[in-house]
Amino acid sequence: MLLFYHLLVGAFLPLVLFSGNWVSAKNINFYNVRPPLDPTPFPNSFKCFTCDNAVDNYNCNRWAEDRWCPESAQYCLTVHLFTDHGKSTSVTKKCATGDECHFVGCHHHRESGHTECVSCCEGMICNVEIPTNHTNAVLAVLHARRTSDGSRRTVSIAVLVSVMAIALS
Ligand SMILES: *[C@@H]1O[C@H](CO)[C@@H](O)[C@H](O)[C@H]1NC(C)=O
Repeated sequence: MLLFYHLLVGAFLPLVLFSGNWVSAKNINFYNVRPPLDPTPFPNSFKCFTCDNAVDNYNCNRWAEDRWCPESAQYCLTVHLFTDHGKSTSVTKKCATGDECHFVGCHHHRESGHTECVSCCEGMICNVEIPTNHTNAVLAVLHARRTSDGSRRTVSIAVLVSVMAIALS
């Protein structure tokens, strides 16, 4: 029964997140990237936007590789370097282990006048946006899997209800 709940959350939560988010995108709709149809290489596998030292977020997402993260990865990591005027100079995104995500946050380098922000997130292609301040340079985990059993059940039931509502409408 519990496995069924997990499957349900795993299958539908990303859809809920994606459909809630894609309204806010500008040029190319990166939120509308479809959950992959190819078989998953192992349970709970996921993908991240992956780029190395792109000039800005648009160019990172635009040309990002479509590849499964290794089994050792837990999160998607984003490193954003930008000037005092807020102009991006480097965007790097990749799959990351829990250890690599200990270093989330922003650091200002006085000599260069640059700020580096690092963020991590959990879930399929979750690293669409780039961190710009202490509010968004954080480790964001999926609520449904990280909370206590009681609230997990509440979330599952909420998902169940919404799935049924969609099915009945
Ligand atoms: C952090 O950045 C986000 C996105 O650019 C912005 O909406 C938010 O107001 C900022 N928060 C602070 C505390 O500056």
